Amino acid sequence: ADLEGRLGAILADHATFEGPLLPILHAVQAEWGYVPPEALPIIAEGLNISRAEVHGVVSFYHDFREEPAGRHMLKICRAEACQARGGQGIEAAAKARLGVDWHGTSSKGGVTLEPVYCLGLCANGPAMMLDGRVVARVDEARLKSLLEEVDA
Ligand code: FES
Repeated sequence: ADLEGRLGAILADHATFEGPLLPILHAVQAEWGYVPPEALPIIAEGLNISRAEVHGVVSFYHDFREEPAGRHMLKICRAEACQARGGQGIEAAAKARLGVDWHGTSSKGGVTLEPVYCLGLCANGPAMMLDGRVVARVDEARLKSLLEEVDA
């Protein structure tokens, strides 16, 4: 989409907001799936703040991606009940297999790894979601076979 035009409309929509930066960044991410670096100076100018300030907010909140996500999205539950059921082992296995840390995208398979805080399967954890499909009682073998399905 035409970045400047769409971004101008987003800025105009938020003109009367108090503390508009976060809602604007959310709108930008909803539009493009991430916050494109070219958007930062335009947002800064629109809000009369510095680029550094906009960038600081984008990098502080992990909700915002600074680059497009991969073709696949793996979300692993990091909330308490899943942690108590061995979630950390699954996190470590996923990171090792994908070769990325949180918010990273694997080069093989293009899987982006994101934490999530509860998928509503607390009694059947550890839980995760791969491309919108929720999986309960994940163990390393299950994780491996699911990642193989998406070629990662
Ligand atoms: Fe993981 Fe609820 S704590 S699904």
